[in-house]
Amino acid sequence: MTKTSSFSAPKGIPDYVPPGSAEFVAVRDGLIRAARLAGYGHIELPVFEDTGLFARGVGESTDVVSKEMYTFPDRGDRSVTLRPEGTAGVMRAVIEHGLDRGQLPVKLVYNGPFFRYERPQAGRYRQLQQVGIEAIGVDDPALDAEVIAIADAGFRGLGLDGFRLELTSLGDETCRPQYRELLQEFLFGLPLDEETKRRAQLNPLRVLDDKRPEVREMTAGAPLMIDHLSESAKTHFEQVLGHLDALGVPYVVNPRMVRGLDYYTKTTFEFVHDGLGAQSGIGGGGRYDGLMAQLGGQPLSGIGFGLGVDRTVLALQAEGKTAGDAARCEVFGVPLGEAAKQRLVVVAAHLRAAGISVDLAYGGRGVKGAMKAADRSGAKFTLVLGDRDLTEETIGLKDMATGEQRQIPLDEVVGAVREALDVSS
Ligand code: HAM
Repeated sequence: MTKTSSFSAPKGIPDYVPPGSAEFVAVRDGLIRAARLAGYGHIELPVFEDTGLFARGVGESTDVVSKEMYTFPDRGDRSVTLRPEGTAGVMRAVIEHGLDRGQLPVKLVYNGPFFRYERPQAGRYRQLQQVGIEAIGVDDPALDAEVIAIADAGFRGLGLDGFRLELTSLGDETCRPQYRELLQEFLFGLPLDEETKRRAQLNPLRVLDDKRPEVREMTAGAPLMIDHLSESAKTHFEQVLGHLDALGVPYVVNPRMVRGLDYYTKTTFEFVHDGLGAQSGIGGGGRYDGLMAQLGGQPLSGIGFGLGVDRTVLALQAEGKTAGDAARCEVFGVPLGEAAKQRLVVVAAHLRAAGISVDLAYGGRGVKGAMKAADRSGAKFTLVLGDRDLTEETIGLKDMATGEQRQIPLDEVVGAVREALDVSS
């Protein structure tokens, strides 16, 4: 037969297939677990939303909104966008369902795919996976520290240690506008190219993030937000650092840190891993005290993070570590004949119902082939059932580590296998 077409995944979109998918799941679940331990409840969000939500929430002047969104009209001619991040959607759902009128803070954890039309490269995908949390409605430095400490604990719980936490304060509504003017005044005095001048007009902070050495040099003496904080923003930041010290969470203050999203205020942070090359951010977040009001809700504060699951997997690999075992069953069943197979299918169902993982040799292989499959499966025990065993109501239980095999009564198989697994573990 001639092959007339072939398909591959869209550019920049990863598949997660065994055995590597086990690592992905372990990382994702490990990061979620850290949030659950601090009382964050699960929120499941739509994968696409009204385009205006992201334009207004994330900011028109950001690369994410202006260049990277997957936006299209649906069949009813509404403009929808595949979610590029989670915070705006969480705010929308919290307002829509009135969660902001209940007990505060509202603490939520989410995970799943997000979409950004970026140029694909190692660690940068067009579909990326995040675990995120948001804590809404309480402006308390201890809560900032909790959010940061959850991320730190999540990474460390996976065995990761080659990362650093960078943080700064981006000020509040009283000091940021003044600082913005000050920075613009400084930038407009520099011999910048037209495009950079435009950026200085639109989003001056972004100019501090310019990677070109000549621009870096020119902006080396730029005024920094951290030196122009209002009294309350300054106190808030100092208290966050005090909590982190008490928690033993190491950090470095990076006053030049610039995040790619517009909603940040006050505490802002990033987790950076040096084993990843250019795409070194394994997670980031911060406060966004004006976002809810901007989206039409009450003026409630908020803080959260998004941790990159894909990049955390890569970071673990860069450290030579693994998380999660490849999917492998504890028990493998080998039927020798049709009647035996019928019975073994039922035995497998009973074992699974008792919480024991079981796979079977399917497809009528010979004894040799089936035993080879048992070997390759990595199972700890193999159950061998012949038609003759059926008349005696027994089954062979083979310990794959020692090669020893013994007959056990078929009606005691669940107990016997459980006992054998307990002894072997
Ligand atoms: P973000 O910094 O844009 O923040 O993304 C968070 C993390 O997602 C990054 O640190 C990175 O690990 C991962 N990530 C982002 N883009 C890509 C990509 N193209 N490929 C692979 N991984 C990527 C946010 O999204 C905010 N919503 C976080 C937040 C929540 N802030 C407050 N609450």
